[in-house]
Amino acid sequence: MTSPTRLEDSFGRTVQDLRISVTDRCNFRCLYCLPETEAAANFYRGRFHGTESSDASKPITHTWKPKSQFLEFEEIERVVRLAAGFGVNKIRITGGEPLLRPRLEELIARITSIPGMHDVAITTNGTGFLKKGKLLRDAGLHRVSFSLDSLDRENFKRVTGRDGLQEVLESIQWAKELGLSPVKVNAVIIRELNDHEIEPLAEFARDHELSMRFIEFMPLDSQRTWKKHLVIPGTEMLERLQKRHTLTPLPAKHPSETSKRWRFQEGNGEVGIIAPVTEPFCGNCNRIRLTADGQIRTCLFSLVENDLKPMLRNGNADAEIEDYLRKVVWKKEERHHIGEDDFVQPSRPMSSIGG
Ligand code: 5AD
Ligand code: SF4
Repeated sequence: MTSPTRLEDSFGRTVQDLRISVTDRCNFRCLYCLPETEAAANFYRGRFHGTESSDASKPITHTWKPKSQFLEFEEIERVVRLAAGFGVNKIRITGGEPLLRPRLEELIARITSIPGMHDVAITTNGTGFLKKGKLLRDAGLHRVSFSLDSLDRENFKRVTGRDGLQEVLESIQWAKELGLSPVKVNAVIIRELNDHEIEPLAEFARDHELSMRFIEFMPLDSQRTWKKHLVIPGTEMLERLQKRHTLTPLPAKHPSETSKRWRFQEGNGEVGIIAPVTEPFCGNCNRIRLTADGQIRTCLFSLVENDLKPMLRNGNADAEIEDYLRKVVWKKEERHHIGEDDFVQPSRPMSSIGG
């Protein structure tokens, strides 16, 4: 039976972390997410080995959701308040690119003023942060993660489809100045695309006191171009880093932590490796997701969604929504099936699920 005070699933896990996508729109076209550029086509061309594709028979027809379907801030705030009542204390705002959502600082202020919200963070590609960063910090934002897959201007362009390296670097610096430390930096590593940048990115983290996160490429891209041989396993990333640096393992802060972390011998920077493909961490997953259009997803790889929007818009009482949340979480999937014969890629790309 489900607990009346916690969001528990049928595998004994308790949800404490809610990731909220506030828009599915993005101004970037990352090769691992929205690979819709000439450079992306060129990269993937010739790298198909037939059977290894994630689900090549069913390409996603990717369309933007009408903005009228996006939850309003009041609606998101209500969901967070009800989730907080169940002990959810960690919120991450994602997109698409969340800074494209107008007046995002107002949502941050609403969320951070809810009692019990210990950790309110945002994941951004960095564009727009120079303008918005201070407003977000003043609204109570605790932390920020930036996507940065390359330190080379041309390769950055190839990976993201945009000439945006300089702005992201300046944004990272600005986040530090705003006191949003430790600033996290995510790099999705893809073989033959940016794996040669693992070492420079690690050194960048060490020199600038950043928390670097190297992430294995997952099959969540809009064109279903993912292939197993493009994934650099976490163990391989670590071996390469250890050839250059003396790394000391850091203890996990929480059992649900997705990354394994190490610190450098000198300085305050750290590297972490997130290996959902080769070392799944589903057994300790305490996350659920709310999409911009109001669907609860109990796993990144869920094939079913749970539409909360009608309940929010049709005058349902808090107790009814709480009951629905408990029932939805109870059915959270045990684990993902990446790399197995029965794997089916979800119909939404990462940009409309939220990272
Ligand atoms: N595989 C792994 N990580 C991904 N991200 C987006 N798409 C993928 C993918 N296919 C991550 C990026 C970004 C965050 C929002 O999600 O690191 O920072
Ligand atoms: Fe890249 Fe994030 Fe935009 Fe996807 S949503 S294209 S990962 S910046």
